[in-house]
Order: sequence, then structure tokens, then C-alpha cells
Amino acid sequence: MKDTTDDKKTAKLSFGDRELELPIFSPTVGPDVIDIRKLYAQGDVFTYDPGFTSTAATDSSITFIDGDKGELLHRGYPIDQLAEKSHFLEVCYLLLYGELPSATQLEDFEHLVTHHTMLHEQMVYFYRGFRRDAHPMAIMVGVVGAMSAFYHDSTDINDPHQREVASIRLIAKMPTIAAWAYKFSIGQPFVYPRNDLDYASNFLRMCFAVPAEEYEVNPILSRAMDRIFTLHADHEQNASTSTVRLASSSGANPFACIAAGIACLWGPAHGGANQACLEMLREIGTPDRIPEFIARAKDKDDPFRLMGFGHRVYKNFDPRARVMKQSADEVLDLLGVENNPTLQVAKVLEQAAIDDPYFAERKLYPNVDFYSGIILDAMGFPTSMFTPIFALARTVGWISQWKEMIEDPAMKIGRPRQLYTGAPLRDYVDVEKR
Ligand code: SDX
Repeated sequence: MKDTTDDKKTAKLSFGDRELELPIFSPTVGPDVIDIRKLYAQGDVFTYDPGFTSTAATDSSITFIDGDKGELLHRGYPIDQLAEKSHFLEVCYLLLYGELPSATQLEDFEHLVTHHTMLHEQMVYFYRGFRRDAHPMAIMVGVVGAMSAFYHDSTDINDPHQREVASIRLIAKMPTIAAWAYKFSIGQPFVYPRNDLDYASNFLRMCFAVPAEEYEVNPILSRAMDRIFTLHADHEQNASTSTVRLASSSGANPFACIAAGIACLWGPAHGGANQACLEMLREIGTPDRIPEFIARAKDKDDPFRLMGFGHRVYKNFDPRARVMKQSADEVLDLLGVENNPTLQVAKVLEQAAIDDPYFAERKLYPNVDFYSGIILDAMGFPTSMFTPIFALARTVGWISQWKEMIEDPAMKIGRPRQLYTGAPLRDYVDVEKR
């Protein structure tokens, strides 16, 4: 535990005949935390926080989010500056190692990642075990988990060198894995990575090139793709990152743990929202149908929610949504996609929701998934590839958080307790007496 203050602040907790004094730790920035690690031993009680709405599960120096201000920092650098001035592999270096790289460090890192983008050739046959109509996320969960069976020389989490090799392999191979999942689903041959292309251009070419003709990467799309990767790179202790941390706390190998993170990200409440959001915008179809969907989103008897809206932490605009919205305008304009009906619906819906007291009272704003699908759709991706692209980009965040946890000597296996509401002790009853 890295406490950043000297004064020993404490919280007093009194209940029944007990009076406990619990340490308070202060962060670099953000809310203080009350250290309850000894609460059960000293007070014989648990805390209760099923959705972890008030629980800091770890300390971390990677990403900070201020939900009220709508601020997102990676190692202290604001996301809008990184999206404008940096690029994805430089952000990967920053997240992994904590500082922006020198020119030489960046060149070496990019060379290392570029030269690890190929997959073990035997993995080609692994893809063939899937149905052609398998969701690419199902394929990614399987293929990434299967990396444990191909890269035995980087599964020992106690070896710093093997941890480094596994980190680079995962960041480097994710675009190939995701692109091949797409190619497999459309019945086209796999396209191999090229070392003369940058990370985003390589991914676009592996997705859209065909052997029958040369493929020229559109620099506008490549820049937009790189920016989308940057905007999705890491996000503090979100559900999938917490899944990776919990899986890793048992000592499982990094490939299996990242596969667990991919599985969690797939859910429509989390990374699956980008696919669900575009499908929702298409279902709305025209601005005149927006009131009907706003009413459904507010109706407690209707499970429908506005996909791409709301966030556990942000109670203001998600700063990534701002950048994404600006990028959507630029990309569609540059692609000559005039008056994209889905983008028009999104803009009218955003304003209608923000103006509606229901959303304003609950501080529900567009999140990262609200505009990303519009850009990906305009770039030619099917909705089924939206979450795989999110997983591709988030791999560096998962791995950086995994690395931080594994390198913490205080790391313990995660093992939450519960509020038990089941039957008390009772004796077995023979079937003839039931
Ligand atoms: C991501 O955690 C991260 O950092 C995630 C992420 C990342 O980068 O890793 O940012 C990526 O997952 C973004 C979120 C993508 N999901 C969606 O867009 C799905 C739609 N959003 C919701 O399902 C919801 O907003 C959540 C899941 C994102 C957050 O849910 P919470 O924090 O558990 O909030 P809640 O469900 O308790 O909602 C609070 C209130 C409720 O109403 P009341 O009970 O107070 O009357 O707001 C309502 C909810 O019904 N509400 C919505 C809503 N989101 C919340 N009502 C309509 N539409 C919505 N989208």
C-alpha cells in the first residue's frame, strides 16, 4: 500500500459494544480510502458493497478518473491531449512503463511490437474449429485462451522476463487475432501482418485486404483507428480489468486471464454496448422516433436502456465521448458520408436525453460507446467487430494493470465474502419423509 500522506488520519466506527479506529489513506488525487483490511478480525463484521460502488479494490498508479469533472488521466496525462498529440503504441509504452518514452525507447518498443505480430501457424487450424457464423468475441475468447497452449515460454508469472514477453506478445498479436476472427466469419483468407506498416494500418489491412488486389491504407482511416485504440486503452478498475486482476490473483497465466477479461468485456452493459448502441440507433432509424425510445428508457417496467448512455463513474460527459464525437464528424466528412442518418439520430438523441430531467437528475451522459460504433460502421466494420476492437485496444490496459498487480509484493488472492441469506444448519431428510 503506497500511502501518499504522513499524518495518520483515522476513521472511527462504532456499533454495538465495539469502537474501532481504522486507518485512512490519501491518494495523489481523488477520494481518501478507509482501510478495512482488519475490520473482520477486529470487528467480526463484513462490509457490504455488491456492485463495488464504494470500494477501492486496489491501489494503482496507472489511470485516474474524476467522474464529476469528466476527467481521464493515463499516468497523469489527460486523454484529450494523448488522443490529439500521441499515438497508440506510445500510449501503450506509457501505460506499461509509467513514463512517455524517449525517441529511442519508442523506436525500440515499436520495433519489438511490430516483430511479434505473427501468430504460431498452428493456430490457423484452431480457427477452423469454429462455425463460420461464430461471434468474433467467442473466437477471441477461445484463441487468446489457447495462447496458453502455444506460448509455454511466457506463462511463468514469477519470471519478469516471461511477464515482459507475454505482455508484448498480447499487445502485438491482438490485431492479428481480431482481424483473423473477422476474415474467418466472412469466409475470406487470412491476411498476414506486414512489418512496414504501423499498428493501426496493419490492422486495417489484415481486415480489409484481399489477395486479388493491392490494398492501400487510407491515412485518414488509419489515424482514426489509432485514435479509437488510444481512447479505449485503459480505464481504471472497470469490470473487465477487475476480472483480469481477480483471475491473475490466483497465479493463472496471463493468456488465460486476458481471455477472462475479453469474456467480461463482451457483456452489453460493458464493452458490448458499442454494438448494442449502433443497433439501437439503427432501430430508432429517424429522429421522429426518439421520444418513443426515451420514454422506454425511462419506463421501469421496460428493460430497455439507452445504450452508450450512463456510466458507473462518469456523472458528466465521458471525455472519450467528446473526442469520439469530434472524430465521427471528421471521419464521416472526410469519407464523404454526408448526412449519415445514424449520426443525425445520435446527435438528436444525445441532446434530447441531456435535456430530459430523468437523465439530467441521474447524471446520465454519453459514454465511450455512444459514437464509436458510428465511426467503425463508416470505416466498414460490421457491428460484430465493434467489441473485438474494444478488446484489442483494452489489452494494453489489462496487461498494464496485471503487471502492476503481479509486481506488488503485497499481492494476495482475491477472495470476497458474502451476506448469507440461505437456510441455517438443518439435518438431511430421507426422500420417503419429504
Ligand atoms: C463501458 O466501468 C468502466 O469504466 C466501463 C467503460 C470502460 O472503458 O471500461 O467505461 C466501458 O462499459 C461504458 C458503459 C457502457 N454501457 C452502456 O452504455 C450500457 C447502458 N448503460 C447502463 O447500463 C448503465 O449506465 C451502466 C451499466 C453503464 C452503469 O450502471 P450503474 O452505475 O450500475 O447505474 P445504475 O444501473 O444503478 O443506474 C442508475 C440509474 C437507474 O435509475 P433509478 O434506479 O435511479 O431510477 O440510472 C438509470 C438506472 O435505471 N440508468 C439508465 C441508463 N443508465 C442508468 N436509464 C436509461 N438508460 C441508461 N443507459
